[in-house]
Amino acid sequence: MRNRIVIFCLMGLFLSTAMVFAQGKGAKQINLHGGKQGDITFPHHMHHTVVNDCMVCHKDFPQEPGALQASKDSGALKKKQMMNKTCLKCHRDRKKAGKPYGPVRCSGCHIR
Ligand code: HEC
Ligand code: HEC
Ligand code: HEC
Repeated sequence: MRNRIVIFCLMGLFLSTAMVFAQGKGAKQINLHGGKQGDITFPHHMHHTVVNDCMVCHKDFPQEPGALQASKDSGALKKKQMMNKTCLKCHRDRKKAGKPYGPVRCSGCHIR
């Protein structure tokens, strides 16, 4: 009986640790609010592999669910600032440099 309790406790510890790690990286895919242009299905984890520094994006807003929209609502970020200065900027620069790049046209990101 005692051994079982110990095993259950260890399993609980393992699962909660795994969940903390999964949460630390954020969601695999995130739906972002895109106003009248339509929402964006953002492949978050895919960007972890192509952008090796979290701060390229997270210098502008914290690593918390809803933080991008919250920063826009508070005025810390202007509307479309993230889109133009970070997302599109990187995609365009990489296109120019002849490297693999993400969408540069509205409909490549926004889904109506
Ligand atoms: C290309 C841009 C970009 C990069 C690079 C990036 N993130 Fe994010 N991250 C986002 C966006 C956008 C959100 C969504 C914020 C929101 O919900 O408003 C987000 C949200 C999160 C969240 C909040 C939980 C969630 O799933 O919404 C966590 C945690 C997080 N990121 C961790 C990381 C870590 C750790 C790295 C580096 C390994 C990283 N991010 C790299 C753009 C990025
Ligand atoms: C690389 C992906 C990407 C592309 C391409 C893109 N957008 Fe966006 N757009 C975003 C993201 C992410 C947001 C939310 C963050 C922000 O406002 O900066 C956004 C937000 C918006 C908003 C909402 C602003 C608000 O808060 O009301 C509008 C309107 C918009 N985009 C229009 C456009 C138009 C028009 C084009 C084409 C010329 C375009 N977008 C191309 C990613 C993209
Ligand atoms: C520092 C560079 C960089 C930044 C910043 C960046 N991206 Fe990307 N993104 C890429 C690259 C590189 C690819 C293409 C990867 C590939 O196809 O190999 C990509 C691909 C994409 C794709 C296409 C995914 C697919 O399945 O085809 C979307 C959508 C996208 N990015 C949206 C965004 C949004 C929204 C932001 C801002 C929140 C953003 N990206 C910020 C580099 C970046």
